[in-house]
Amino acid sequence: MAELRPETMERITNPELAKAFIDEQIKAIKEQVGDKKVLLALSGGVDSSVVAALLIKAIGKQLVCVHVNHGLLRKGESEQVIEVFKNQMDANLIYVDAVDRFLDKLAGVSDPETKRKIIGKEFIDVFAEEAAKLDDISFLAQGTIYPDILESDGVKAHHNVGGLPEDLKFELVEPVKFLYKDEVRVVGKELGLPDNMVYRQPFPGPGLGVRCVGAITRDRLEALREADAIVRREIGALDPVPWQYFCVIPDFKSTGIKDGKRYMGWAVIIRAVNTVDAVTATVPEIPFSVLCRIRDDIIATVPGVNRVLWDISEKPVSTIEFE
Ligand code: XMP
Repeated sequence: MAELRPETMERITNPELAKAFIDEQIKAIKEQVGDKKVLLALSGGVDSSVVAALLIKAIGKQLVCVHVNHGLLRKGESEQVIEVFKNQMDANLIYVDAVDRFLDKLAGVSDPETKRKIIGKEFIDVFAEEAAKLDDISFLAQGTIYPDILESDGVKAHHNVGGLPEDLKFELVEPVKFLYKDEVRVVGKELGLPDNMVYRQPFPGPGLGVRCVGAITRDRLEALREADAIVRREIGALDPVPWQYFCVIPDFKSTGIKDGKRYMGWAVIIRAVNTVDAVTATVPEIPFSVLCRIRDDIIATVPGVNRVLWDISEKPVSTIEFE
């Protein structure tokens, strides 16, 4: 039976409560860890970023963060992790460029669940290899949050390959395990993390891998990353901002025409949804002028793309992701 959030624990809704939580956790982390070292897989998502910032405050360089770039992150994400944690917070950060390793393993694989399995397994392998190079680690920090404990049959558990290998079974440090997502964000803000890290939309563990539909190729993945940055910039500026918004590139080409010549190119599909729990989802209205701006920017700047579509499908019957 999983440990439950204490009934007396107040909901963290404002900076004062966040500050009190941070002070309390710093004390608890120091007590648990002493002068030992802690390892953390830092993806740059909200949960792992907040845990990293908390641990850096509590134990500084005793925390070793490992950021694995698997090539399926969004534009600028790895760079931001390095900027925020290494340059600004002076963290002990190991950056692993595993792009070729992941993309080579994924080459020619089109089944979505096989892709997920490869990405999940490869991630654990890379992380375990890095851990093995460090011989004095005693703890493993994790960005587990309360819904992860409550919803052990939830989307993350369903999709992501869980379970760490024996040689990674260190004692766990999980300072935000009783927090809900909104509380994690309040704490992150109080810790000084940038807004685009604290308020970022949900992003699947396998990243752009499940949005580069079918067998991933490097050129289509690059086009997806560039188009996604445009979609995020434009739809992210709306008020209210949809719950999740991104694009996908299916693995077919269609006819385009340029300078009077026909040629084959990819289609970018824009997707934006609103939901409370990701079990059902509706499609928000997006001003036509915004859609046209996205179209024009993608066509003008993203190599290989000659068509832009908008997905108006709701869940059910269409899942939020394409794969
Ligand atoms: P679907 O596509 O099932 O997505 O409607 C519901 C929510 O889950 C996210 N999602 C994932 N998250 N690993 C994750 O951590 C995954 O493999 C995965 N697949 C989907 C999706 O982005 C949406 O928020």
